[in-house]
Amino acid sequence: MPATNRKFTLAARPEGAARRSDFAFIEDAVPSPAEGEVLLRNILFSIDPYQRNLMGNGSSEWPVIDIGAPMGGPTVAVIEESRHPGFATGNYVQSWSGWQDYAISDGSDLRKLDPDTAPLPTALGPLGLTGFTAWYGMTNVHEFKAGGTLVITGAAGSVGSMAVQLGKRRGLRVVGVAGGKDKVAYLKDTLGVDAAIDYKAEDFEEQVRRALPEGIDALFENVGGPIFPVLMEHFNTNAKMVICGTISDYSETEPPAGPNYLPRLISLIHYRFVDIKAFATPFVMHLMPEFLDEMTPLVVNGEITYREDLLEGFDSLPNTFMTLFDGTHSGKKLIVKA
Ligand SMILES: NC(=O)c1ccc[n+]([C@@H]2O[C@H](COP(=O)([O-])OP(=O)(O)OC[C@H]3O[C@@H](n4cnc5c(N)ncnc54)[C@H](OP(=O)(O)O)[C@@H]3O)[C@@H](O)[C@H]2O)c1
Repeated sequence: MPATNRKFTLAARPEGAARRSDFAFIEDAVPSPAEGEVLLRNILFSIDPYQRNLMGNGSSEWPVIDIGAPMGGPTVAVIEESRHPGFATGNYVQSWSGWQDYAISDGSDLRKLDPDTAPLPTALGPLGLTGFTAWYGMTNVHEFKAGGTLVITGAAGSVGSMAVQLGKRRGLRVVGVAGGKDKVAYLKDTLGVDAAIDYKAEDFEEQVRRALPEGIDALFENVGGPIFPVLMEHFNTNAKMVICGTISDYSETEPPAGPNYLPRLISLIHYRFVDIKAFATPFVMHLMPEFLDEMTPLVVNGEITYREDLLEGFDSLPNTFMTLFDGTHSGKKLIVKA
């Protein structure tokens, strides 16, 4: 076993988008497990937009990690040493131990993985928090009626592409919103949306009108920002909206400049009885087994498709994370191998 434990810790709370200098690379001693604990060696690291919220000084009001603490996030790990009766050396687990080679766990945050059931990276994608987020948002927040029109923003992203497929499986007419021709083609050709909207195109508002001749019955919101005021005008009476995330404002410390759409939104909620709810998966993790029961066969049999980029190198973690916010991210799920 190497003598050192590589870590990326939070060096500073970002000013706007995260920068490389917000992370510090350190090496310290590999910890030893006490009785009832295991030593984990992380082999795969999940890269997700919500990790910006963990860094603080952004739009999130939820708890942040301490300066000097390892950057947080889900990993796949192998048990290097076990002093816990429930885990054996060599077991694979999904953990929350973040950007470090080694970590100690008492087992309470671990989910055992069977690599013969599904490839290990799926535990960070379609059979991990990504898939769980799409499944929970599509299943447990509102009842979406079959036949209605469901709009999904960030539809070509990791969560969005899963939500699109669940929407189709639940009998909805699904309209995906994404940025650029390649993502629109992916939505149409691979995910089989009923209509796709390119919000970066000059005729965005015209595309919205064309794709929504009968308005919006349900909206699965991943992005927020300037797309929403255009979409909200198309809400039908009793439309349902689930706020999964607002990635476009995670690095913002001030309310957005420009027109104030809030009075108009309040009117729409009032006159059209729009029902808006939000959720956060950390509060509903007890439903993970139900999610896995439904989704594991669908993912393993290829009935739910997903895209992932498996990138090499612990050293690349901060730079890979920053691509989520700099416009270069292709929409595939990003996973870094140690
Ligand atoms: N509620 C929960 O518990 C929970 C849990 C996990 C994730 N989430 C949320 O789910 C959403 C989707 O996450 P994900 O893992 O699918 O992320 P992802 O794979 O990076 O996809 C997000 C998509 O958002 C789009 N986007 C639009 N404006 C953007 C901007 N200003 N910066 C960056 N991307 C922008 C990008 O697509 P285009 O190129 O098409 O714009 C991108 O593909 C996020 O809001 C995330 O925070 C919520």
